[in-house]
Amino acid sequence: MLGLLICSITCSTSLSTNESKVPPFSCGSRSYPFCDEGMPVRERARDLISRLTLDEKLSQLINKAAAIPRLGVPYYQWWSEALHGVAVAEGVENGISFRGVVKAATSFPQVILTASSFDAHLWYRIAKVIGTEARAMYNEGQATGLTFWAPTVNIFRDPRWGRGQETPGEDPLLTAKYATSFVRGLQGDSFEGRALKDDHLLVSACCKHFTAYDLESWKGYVRYTFNANVTKQDMADTYQPPFKGCIKEGKASGLMCAYNLVNGVPNCVDYDLLTETARGEWGYITSDCDAVSFLFQKQHYAKSNEEAVADALKAGMDVSCGPYLGNYIKSAVLKGIVPESDIDKALENLFTVRIRLGLFNGPPSGTYGKLGREDVCAPEHQELALEAARQGIVLLKNERKLLPLSKAGKGSLAVIGPNANVSNVLLGNYRGPPCTTITPLQGLMRYAKDINYSSIDVKRAVELAKSADCVVLVMGTNQLQESEYKDREDLVLPGEQESLIMSVAEAAKKPVVLVLLCGGPIDVSFAKNEPKIGSILWAGYPGQAGGGAIAEIIFGDYNPGGRLTMTWYPQEFMKIPMIDMRMRADPSSGFPGRTYRFYGGKKVFEFGHGLSYTTYSYKIVFVSQRNFDLKASSSTSNLRYVSVQELGSRWCKKAKFFVIVRVKNKGKMAGKHPVLLFLRRTQYGGDGGVGSPMKQLVGFQTVKTDVKEKVLVKFSVSPCEHFSSASEDGEMVIESGDASLVVGDEEHPIRIHM
Ligand SMILES: *[C@@H]1O[C@H](CO)[C@@H](O)[C@H](O)[C@H]1NC(C)=O
Ligand SMILES: *[C@@H]1O[C@H](CO)[C@@H](O)[C@H](O)[C@H]1NC(C)=O
Ligand SMILES: *[C@@H]1O[C@H](CO)[C@@H](O)[C@H](O)[C@H]1NC(C)=O
Ligand SMILES: *[C@@H]1O[C@H](CO)[C@@H](O)[C@H](O)[C@H]1NC(C)=O
Repeated sequence: MLGLLICSITCSTSLSTNESKVPPFSCGSRSYPFCDEGMPVRERARDLISRLTLDEKLSQLINKAAAIPRLGVPYYQWWSEALHGVAVAEGVENGISFRGVVKAATSFPQVILTASSFDAHLWYRIAKVIGTEARAMYNEGQATGLTFWAPTVNIFRDPRWGRGQETPGEDPLLTAKYATSFVRGLQGDSFEGRALKDDHLLVSACCKHFTAYDLESWKGYVRYTFNANVTKQDMADTYQPPFKGCIKEGKASGLMCAYNLVNGVPNCVDYDLLTETARGEWGYITSDCDAVSFLFQKQHYAKSNEEAVADALKAGMDVSCGPYLGNYIKSAVLKGIVPESDIDKALENLFTVRIRLGLFNGPPSGTYGKLGREDVCAPEHQELALEAARQGIVLLKNERKLLPLSKAGKGSLAVIGPNANVSNVLLGNYRGPPCTTITPLQGLMRYAKDINYSSIDVKRAVELAKSADCVVLVMGTNQLQESEYKDREDLVLPGEQESLIMSVAEAAKKPVVLVLLCGGPIDVSFAKNEPKIGSILWAGYPGQAGGGAIAEIIFGDYNPGGRLTMTWYPQEFMKIPMIDMRMRADPSSGFPGRTYRFYGGKKVFEFGHGLSYTTYSYKIVFVSQRNFDLKASSSTSNLRYVSVQELGSRWCKKAKFFVIVRVKNKGKMAGKHPVLLFLRRTQYGGDGGVGSPMKQLVGFQTVKTDVKEKVLVKFSVSPCEHFSSASEDGEMVIESGDASLVVGDEEHPIRIHM
């Protein structure tokens, strides 16, 4: 278990510091016990705290922690961002500055695209590069903090959510795995989770936003005051598993409590959530920015400013983003509302993380101390950004093998659309200055000499389409339609894009290629069903190298393998209130449910959908166990399910089995792609019994195959983990009934009986 920190967005100014008096690194010259690397981290933290005056202590509880010059402790900024590359928070000062020798950092694809690779090693490697670049910037004097408020691991519950782009998608198992891999990479642990040097951190990760946060603004409901009504069942098997992956498995050293309330209680004052559920021995908890001020001022949950501060500290928050706490903590202490012991507890968590970051060991030294400017935007880092875009991009439609286009021909190419040549659109939100950018137009120019381009001028676009041999349209959304503060208002393409696409498709000599740059799903049913639109490629927000990856795929230098990590709903889904947090369908009221696990309605594209230039076939060639007898430990034989706890650890261990899948590349092109293994319920799924998902992801693995090659892939399956879901009271249970293991079109029946 971990201690956590909690994170977010709108901090402004803080206590003044006189940085000129303060050394850049603590423990450079003077030697206190807290500088002693041989001492346990917590003891070092306690020693430091014991030397602080009350005012000095209070100055440490906000994201801009003041310098303590008499002890040689520099200013520390708790807030930095690194969602998909070292980033800046727009318009506000945070811990990273790009004004110095380092002017840019590697910009990876936005998370929703990277997730589509279903490649945990890739996620890990990306995070390790981000941590490395961040540490290098610190060594160059361009960081006043090394606590990064990433990853975002909320479930992408509703397709309208403006921040869905920041998440790995709608599946809890996938999101948990992403969180674990990302945190291990960022903090410098091995892929398997071993700390390379005791508890030393490359940089600190922060799991956000705890919890059930996935709405910015919808019909008057805003995130600052929204009360998410979440059932115990959905909480247990949808909203919380990613945080467990992030904190328990990944051992994140930070956690951020979200703005919103859950079942009437603001996240940042929920003791059960912060302290009972989340906190362990490690790490710190931060509030989302200004969240503590809202407790009294917007939510009217606390009775005064002082009580707001007291409630958050008591619940387990350690540091408050924004200046607010600094204004009221002193009077709260003087009035006796906040005991000094609560403050010391918070300080211990905070200084523990700073010590684990190596910030009390004098000037940078050791392996991490050697990193510098040449480690930022390094060629291999930029190559990884390209690789991530390649692996994430999803081929949604490819009629009559329109793609790939031939490289050999001397044909002309028309490139059309508002997203074809805008470098910012590639980056999504939470971006920093990229090392370089390649737009789709620039990428395509590497392949086609005879190329003409038009953004949104319909007349010119139609003219170009008429004369060109091939047409590529680059459409979609940008941060004006979906971003922080901004949920989408509908699921169709913005503005006149659909009519532009159709005019161009009508005019073109042959079917056109449609490339979509967007985070959330778009209802492109019109294009899916239109023969004049031959291919559709989804490229998310593909990062600095995105245009290169798109062009490689269009011209067949890379065989696409990405798979969607969220359901693409039709526009009619907009009639579902965004504030309805339920995952499970409720046929009596017409609520269709959410995500591939529970939504049985019409889909534009399914979770897991993704085509390739080759054809893969799958065969489940071996299953080491196919009968699962729940009755052995069941005392509730009238029910059709048993709790995992009742089954017991011995049953769970014995029930573990493996599945071997043979993957064959039957086509004409080598390729890398993820193999997804699901459990599908034949009987109760979705509308009977305890509400098990219709289908749930059990595992995923990336394989590389040559033409005609067959490869065996082994999945380890734990029924207690992978076949379970929550009962109405939030207990993890396994439901009896027939089911199948599913890979592609291949199904293998298994029995779960009592
Ligand atoms: C900061 O310290 C320097 C050197 O001691 C001093 O000249 C300056 O006035 C101080 N600035 C502030 C804002 O206290
Ligand atoms: C949540 O439940 C409370 C209490 O039943 C109710 O007053 C509130 O309107 C609900 N909120 C939403 C967004 O449905
Ligand atoms: C594409 O955008 C780049 C800047 O990002 C610009 O230099 C270039 O001229 C643009 N190309 C066209 C054809 O407009
Ligand atoms: C397309 O671009 C070429 C130059 O590459 C130019 O000669 C031609 O006139 C352009 N066509 C149109 C329709 O603009």
